Amino acid sequence: MSNNSAIGVFDSGIGGLTVVKSIVESMPQENIIYFGDTAHVPYGTRSKRQILHYVLSDVKFLNTFDLKAVVIACNTADSVARQAVEDAYPDLPVFGVVDPASRLAAAQTRNKKIGVIATKATVESGAYEKAIAAYDSEVDVLSAACPLLVPLVENGRFQVGDIVIETVVREYLDPLLAEGIDTLVLGCTHYPLLQDVITHLYPDLNVISSSDAAAAKLLGTLIREGLCNEEPGSDRKYFVSDDAEGVDKLARVFMREDLGGTFRQVDVE
Ligand code: DGL
Repeated sequence: MSNNSAIGVFDSGIGGLTVVKSIVESMPQENIIYFGDTAHVPYGTRSKRQILHYVLSDVKFLNTFDLKAVVIACNTADSVARQAVEDAYPDLPVFGVVDPASRLAAAQTRNKKIGVIATKATVESGAYEKAIAAYDSEVDVLSAACPLLVPLVENGRFQVGDIVIETVVREYLDPLLAEGIDTLVLGCTHYPLLQDVITHLYPDLNVISSSDAAAAKLLGTLIREGLCNEEPGSDRKYFVSDDAEGVDKLARVFMREDLGGTFRQVDVE
């Protein structure tokens, strides 16, 4: 492992590209290996047992590369399987999304009422409640599972003024706002694409992207530990477990830019 070893990033599918985008924006020089488990997406509706099994296979694949860190981009995977990854790979520095987003939210809320929107599995795990309480035990956390948001985003419904997404977002968020939250954590890889819609509907709400928070934490740690890549040029490789061609097209639409690489299909257990 050296400074120019890659950062491994994985997700249940292509949503984790929001984390890659945040990493590339703040650390353009870093080498990245991305793996999206598109054969098994979504994780958010699955049982803990299945999520654990898939996550350990994801990390096993990424660990075949020379890595200096692994980033669990998927909120569901981080919420349910973080400990299992750390136990299985004690020498691999593991970064997630839940802890950095929780830390920011606890620091930024003024009235100590934080909303968290996420998948069903993330909400049921209680991971955000636990992480936020570790930073501030007086904060009230109101969580909502939002199963309709991932498919809508994947179908391109994330524009301000789109009546479908705005109606669904209101359906999920109005009750949280009625409870008085002043800060909202976007606890799912796909939700950063909804940031404009949410800010348009609720201009006074403080919105925290778990993808940006994760990248900021990673950057801070690499700088502190003197682990940033200083060699010019960066290499980015993208792998999926199913339908590389379909994903490639969708990813470009999804991210609205070329992340510098194409997807390759690999078989993982
Ligand atoms: N990547 C998942 C997350 O951040 C969303 C999609 C899924 O359910 O797998 O929770």
